[in-house]
Amino acid sequence: MRPGRADDLPAVLGLMQVEVRAGRQDCVPGEAYLQRMLAGFDWSSRSRVVEAERGLEGAVLVAGRSTPAGTVTRVSVACGPSDMRQELLRWGLDLSKAAGAVAAQMWVGRGHTQGMAELGAEYVRPWWRMDMNLAGDLTAPRPVRGYKLRDGTQVAGRSWSDLHNRSFAGHWRFSPSQEAELVTGRSPELSLMAITEEGSPAALAWGQVESYLEDSRPQPVGIVSSVGTVPEHRRKGLASWLVAELLNRLRDDGARSASLYVDRWNRTRAFDAYRKLGFEPAFESEVWEANLR
Ligand SMILES: CC(C)(COP(=O)(O)OP(=O)(O)OC[C@H]1O[C@@H](n2cnc3c(N)ncnc32)[C@H](O)[C@@H]1OP(=O)(O)O)[C@@H](O)C(=O)NCCC(=O)NCCS
Repeated sequence: MRPGRADDLPAVLGLMQVEVRAGRQDCVPGEAYLQRMLAGFDWSSRSRVVEAERGLEGAVLVAGRSTPAGTVTRVSVACGPSDMRQELLRWGLDLSKAAGAVAAQMWVGRGHTQGMAELGAEYVRPWWRMDMNLAGDLTAPRPVRGYKLRDGTQVAGRSWSDLHNRSFAGHWRFSPSQEAELVTGRSPELSLMAITEEGSPAALAWGQVESYLEDSRPQPVGIVSSVGTVPEHRRKGLASWLVAELLNRLRDDGARSASLYVDRWNRTRAFDAYRKLGFEPAFESEVWEANLR
């Protein structure tokens, strides 16, 4: 086992592909997502790979994010043999603990959770990927009386983070984000906001177009990456309006299918809204968490 390097990425992606074929992960992350996720990633301290003569046999990457409760890491492993897999996961958990994280999460396809309990982790959440095909008729966007639709070409700076953070405040494991990390690299035309007649931000929906290798979805895929309505404007149809508009824009940008990820225990039942727009569950991940305190 040795520290990973940025030039291991192609081989790591190959290992991730094996994870997908085995049903342990839903897809190999798309390029745009990976670039964001790995920007500034410190390979030498946050990854380990197992190298054999014919190439990499296993890899583990540890990413962290701060939450009000402390840092929560995500330990991602790509590796066939189960004993090596356990060893890599154990390394990721030990690193998380040494770095002072309060919890470490591992995401794995439903039914592929052997060894999780032995690592001291417990099952905390089911997580869905929901998909829809964008061929054929899409739900027409239904504007909501008293609100106007804006996109990133029309919204002044600093408005997104406040709206985002207020909409998601009650979401599981939420952590507030700064404006720059939310808007950097985002397409303005695929960043939608509903505002009141007086100009107060009320709801948002963001999208991006991604391509995935060896993937059963019609490519490219329009990803609906965040949907939120501030509590005082909920249940008026704002999220449904914005997502319907976003799906049309994603299709105009070339997307042939759409996907999103949602907490299966989401208290505001976001998945019901998505179902009404045509999304169906396509993959269920289990989130396992080791409490490191
Ligand atoms: C989920 C959320 C975006 C919905 O926003 P919204 O603007 O209220 O959504 P809509 O008014 O378009 O509602 C659409 C459907 O969602 C479902 N829904 C929305 N809020 C619900 C609630 N509190 N309880 C049950 N169902 C709800 C309903 O099916 C609703 O349709 P209906 O009003 O015809 O019954 C909003 O509640 C929210 O921001 N939640 C916190 C953040 C979050 O979880 N985002 C989703 C992450 S994937």
